[in-house]
Amino acid sequence: MVSRRGFLTGLALVPAAYAAGCSIRPSPAGSAADSPRALPIPPQAPSTVGPDGVRRFALRAQSGTTEMIRGKQTPTWGYSGSVLGPTVRARRGEQVAFTITNDLSEPTSVHWHGMHLPAKFDGGPHQMIAPGAVWAPHWTIAQQAATLWYHPHPHGATEKHVHRGLSGLFLIDDDASDALDLPKEYGVDDIPLVIQDRRFTDDGTLDDSDATDVGLLGDTIVTNGIANAHLTVTTERVRLRILNGSSGRLYNLSFNEGRKFQLIATDGGLLPEPVTLERIQLSPGERAELVVTLGAGENVTLRSLPITERAGIDRAAEFGFDDTFTILTLRAASGLRPSAALPATLIPMRALASPTTAPTRSFDLQWFMINNRRMDMNRIDMTVPVDTTEVWTVRNKDNWPHNFHVHDVQFQILAVDGTPPPPDLSGWKDTVYTTPDTTYTLAMHFADHTDPTYPYMYHCHLLHHEDQGMMGQFLVLAPGQQAAPMQMDMGSMSHG
Ligand code: C2O
Ligand code: CU
Ligand code: CU
Repeated sequence: MVSRRGFLTGLALVPAAYAAGCSIRPSPAGSAADSPRALPIPPQAPSTVGPDGVRRFALRAQSGTTEMIRGKQTPTWGYSGSVLGPTVRARRGEQVAFTITNDLSEPTSVHWHGMHLPAKFDGGPHQMIAPGAVWAPHWTIAQQAATLWYHPHPHGATEKHVHRGLSGLFLIDDDASDALDLPKEYGVDDIPLVIQDRRFTDDGTLDDSDATDVGLLGDTIVTNGIANAHLTVTTERVRLRILNGSSGRLYNLSFNEGRKFQLIATDGGLLPEPVTLERIQLSPGERAELVVTLGAGENVTLRSLPITERAGIDRAAEFGFDDTFTILTLRAASGLRPSAALPATLIPMRALASPTTAPTRSFDLQWFMINNRRMDMNRIDMTVPVDTTEVWTVRNKDNWPHNFHVHDVQFQILAVDGTPPPPDLSGWKDTVYTTPDTTYTLAMHFADHTDPTYPYMYHCHLLHHEDQGMMGQFLVLAPGQQAAPMQMDMGSMSHG
């Protein structure tokens, strides 16, 4: 059974030594000027494997309070804890099964972002869990090692549920990644890092008033659930598995003094080879795995600098593009355990079969619409024949930032405005940022799961845009199968 004790419960016990001597940029106005605390590491979710070989997990969506800023008790929501959720971990080829209990006072859902799985277990807006109810999805992990995540997806209320704290990481392992000499000791040199921006009222309550046109923006960065965190590093190299878990904020991540890092993985898994970079941009929902090298005793700061990719954005300042944040301070111990040099090659990109059978589809992003339509739970926007590779072109025709996320698949970006993508967009992706007036050509394979009733979603992952209806639905159908979507009575749906 999953312990109901939150992983932040023990924060008051952080040794006092951590509170002294860190040089860190003063917190922005509006956040508590507190001294740094150790970065909380979400526990790995307990699981049991029965004689049937199925790995079973239990998660509970619940409310609680979290000391997100020192000395304040913030009402939050979490999975099996007061905020965020345990890191779920399973291997490729393994069958997994979940018991998810909703202890909240309103309906929620749990979506497995980045996962290839049957649509009825996808956890989108058609798989709501009523208060007090239990949902039990199960599937076989059939994709390469990757850093995925899980979060609520109730139509019209996703931003609220994620903002309150519901999000967790889902790590997939496989033999190929195990065979690589990469930092992989969880919480030691393999660090999960969920980055979110929040605003607090004076009493420490999360402030969800005054949403901008990109949704809620905060002036305080919380990492793994707390503001002003630092990480003590004990090894020469450290791997950061970073999730942009924010509603609408883009991050332009870099280390201080132009320190380079190696990008080893994007949304869907490891790259063919490490790529040396000085900065990486992540829009909401995107992940990146970075490896950074430290010297003994060094202090290194992970920051977010103003967004440079802003052509065509009209109100950049209002959308947070000018903001600078300290995300996390890494403090290297005075003696570091040596780490192996990174392998020169990682995981080759499996080429997608060339698209033949299926049409090319295009998606125009504008205002809260995709192809001039807003989401209708009772409208299937398209059907995809199973076992096809499709090419989708996506274009942001707006002066707002948007991104594009597809359920069920990982895609390859074939081209950005007709030219091959930069290295950080060359690996497997499930979410891509779309600069205005730029065309992104994506290839994806709809391998096997079919369902005439339950659709998958595609949408902008700026959660306010998604809630406003910047989303569509597709069925994957077997040959000869007829669509038979469920009709929902939206009047009976309540999000509290
Ligand atoms: Cu991460 Cu449809 O969402
Ligand atoms: Cu998703
Ligand atoms: Cu959008």
